[in-house]
Amino acid sequence: MPIASSPLAIDRAANLRALNSFGLPAVAHTLVHIRSDADVRRVLDHPELGRAPKLVLGGGSNLVLTRDPSEVVLRVEVMGKRLVAEREDAWIVEIGAGEAWHDAVAWTLDQGWPGLENLALIPGTVGAAPVQNIGAYGVELADRFESLDAVSLVTGRVVTLDARACAFGYRDSVFKQAAQPGNFGGLAGKSLITRVRLRLSRPWQPVRSYLDIERRMAETGNAAPDARTIFDWVCAIRRAKLPDPAEIGNAGSFFKNPVVSAEQCRDIIGRDPHIVHYPLPDGRFKLAAGWLIDACGWKGKRVGNAGVYERQALVLVNCGGATGAEVVTLARAIQESVYGRFGIRLEPEPVLM
Ligand code: EPU
Repeated sequence: MPIASSPLAIDRAANLRALNSFGLPAVAHTLVHIRSDADVRRVLDHPELGRAPKLVLGGGSNLVLTRDPSEVVLRVEVMGKRLVAEREDAWIVEIGAGEAWHDAVAWTLDQGWPGLENLALIPGTVGAAPVQNIGAYGVELADRFESLDAVSLVTGRVVTLDARACAFGYRDSVFKQAAQPGNFGGLAGKSLITRVRLRLSRPWQPVRSYLDIERRMAETGNAAPDARTIFDWVCAIRRAKLPDPAEIGNAGSFFKNPVVSAEQCRDIIGRDPHIVHYPLPDGRFKLAAGWLIDACGWKGKRVGNAGVYERQALVLVNCGGATGAEVVTLARAIQESVYGRFGIRLEPEPVLM
């Protein structure tokens, strides 16, 4: 229930089941709705909440809740979409961190500003997109990123970070890295992203080199699809192989695609000639984790109420009533069997807590 006397919207004993895309049960003792930078400062100045540990929650699409959080949960609900600059070389759009990512993609296309079409239908919020540098069909957020605003959860100061400061990597950024001695950049748990600015380059440069897109081009005979067509194709491809979190709880790919040395890749190909692998510019190889899990026979298998999606082995799903512990037990069993057969340790993509 919101507390009327507080300028902050605070819920007590808030059920988080509908606020995480896996649909896992957990209760936040305190959940604060963050609608502006000022709300963050109000939290920091609050006699009870100011010094309490905090957990930032966006769309909850990259999180496996295994317990009731002991932290105060800050739910990011900063809204708004606007064009901030129309340059000769790009449109720069600014989007509130609380907006749904897919709606932002659709909005830019409706305005006639292409560039995000390959990233259609990714669940989660705009504020969560830089945290794990979302990517799909040959494009990563980092490729379209201009800058973001974040509020420090320690000082309440607003900072603007460019791509370098965000230290984007494969499903990684400074926001996922913990601060350690000698690593002052790690911002995990230390800041709350409020707005993200994206750069949509002009003229539009389509990215059509991903196998699934090339297949559609061949099937339709359309060798030069426009942005709207790529958007429609990506939506159709995703709907065909990925579960909709509104229907089946999930967090997208559960593991990152592992990177191995050329020697290790050759060794695995020697034993499993069909393994799906992609060369990287540095001479190493990225392996398809979905293929590895599939090869170990996990597709469609369950442990309790957690399961492996029958159309994409990289996606773990809530078969109905799963707990976070069941998801983690299933994930560990998959890691062990992939390690046993291929000698590769799969690393989870979502944050387990
Ligand atoms: N594969 C199998 N069996 C499976 C699943 C996949 O053999 O059960 C094979 C496929 O046949 C394909 C290869 O593995 O040859 C790769 O599969 P896919 O194209 O579906 O992509 P992915 O590597 O599994 C990655 C991203 C997705 C992103 C797609 C498309 C990661 C961890 N995942 O998946 O991102 O949508 O590429 O670009 O990098 C996410 O991060 O949550 C996510 C969904």
